[in-house]
Amino acid sequence: MTIIVTGASGKFGRAAVEQLLTDIPPNNLILTTRNPERLASFAEQGVSVRYADFDDPESLRAAFAGGDTLLLISAIKVGHRIPQHRRAINAAKKMGVKRIVYTSYVGTSAGNTALVNQDHYGTERLLEDSGIAWTILRDGFYAESIIDAAVPLALKTGRWVSASGDGRIAFIDRSDCVSCAVAVLLGQGHENRTYEIVGEELWSFRDVSKLTSKITGTPIDFVDVSDDGLYEHFDALGIPREPSEFDIDGYLWCSDDMVSFERELRSGRYDVVSSDVRQILGRAPRDFRTVMQERMHALPNGEFELGNEYRGPDVT
Ligand SMILES: NC(=O)c1ccc[n+]([C@@H]2O[C@H](COP(=O)([O-])OP(=O)(O)OC[C@H]3O[C@@H](n4cnc5c(N)ncnc54)[C@H](OP(=O)(O)O)[C@@H]3O)[C@@H](O)[C@H]2O)c1
Repeated sequence: MTIIVTGASGKFGRAAVEQLLTDIPPNNLILTTRNPERLASFAEQGVSVRYADFDDPESLRAAFAGGDTLLLISAIKVGHRIPQHRRAINAAKKMGVKRIVYTSYVGTSAGNTALVNQDHYGTERLLEDSGIAWTILRDGFYAESIIDAAVPLALKTGRWVSASGDGRIAFIDRSDCVSCAVAVLLGQGHENRTYEIVGEELWSFRDVSKLTSKITGTPIDFVDVSDDGLYEHFDALGIPREPSEFDIDGYLWCSDDMVSFERELRSGRYDVVSSDVRQILGRAPRDFRTVMQERMHALPNGEFELGNEYRGPDVT
């Protein structure tokens, strides 16, 4: 079986490739990127590294030749993913790929109006209509993403501005999402199934701000705002409203994405827990508090007093 990995140069893709290489020989892997030099270290090990751009159908067809299973790591630009994924799915079909494993997002449904979920909802439908066997992995909110995106500003300003109210979500470590993807790629019986790759404990952003305060000893005021108030907050930070190439530390930011997400979070749309990770990996997902403690050390300027262990989210 030859596995194609899109987005192989990204954080998710690299980790998946490293895990796959512990189980399958390099010549059973095809990695795609717009910058093959970024994957030179894998090429040196005998992996096939090919140019492909989600915006260039011909490049996708050429890159997918000879592959049996595709790990379609979703593209990163909100609002642009559906046509990009359509091109990838069409290319896979044309080139005889037999199964697609796709990284979707928690809470995806017809009614979820968050931009991120609309992208994934559209792609899930494309997969179901493709005629190719599929597996959908609805990955939860990465623990490291909420930490990296929200915690530094909260610590710097002493305020965590949010429209999410008491909406809750089960954060998950990215490494657990990667391990699930690899297990599903190499395992049997996952055809046409959707898994919820989420943690086992629901946390609100308010809980996370309390945990941050406990770990660091820095008081943080959780400021509840309306959707308009959240737009104003992001406007003041210079973040564009609509999807663009604007990025901070590699993350693409736009407030339409974040405000629509927080609105749906507030409404309870992400109130999803599941035993799917245990079923796939045979163990529990990593604990959010542990990931949080570890990650705090890695934050820029994050030399905080650690040790005030927080046993929330029920603790105030
Ligand atoms: N669940 C969560 O909380 C959460 C948080 C963050 C991200 N994500 C999602 O997780 C997935 C992986 O993210 P990541 O952290 O690995 O992203 P990343 O490190 O930013 O890497 C992005 C990857 O996407 C590829 N890419 C971007 N535009 C492309 C295009 N037009 N054609 C082909 N490839 C393209 C890049 O390839 P080249 O530049 O080499 O071509 C790169 O490999 C994405 O779907 C992202 O949206 C989820």
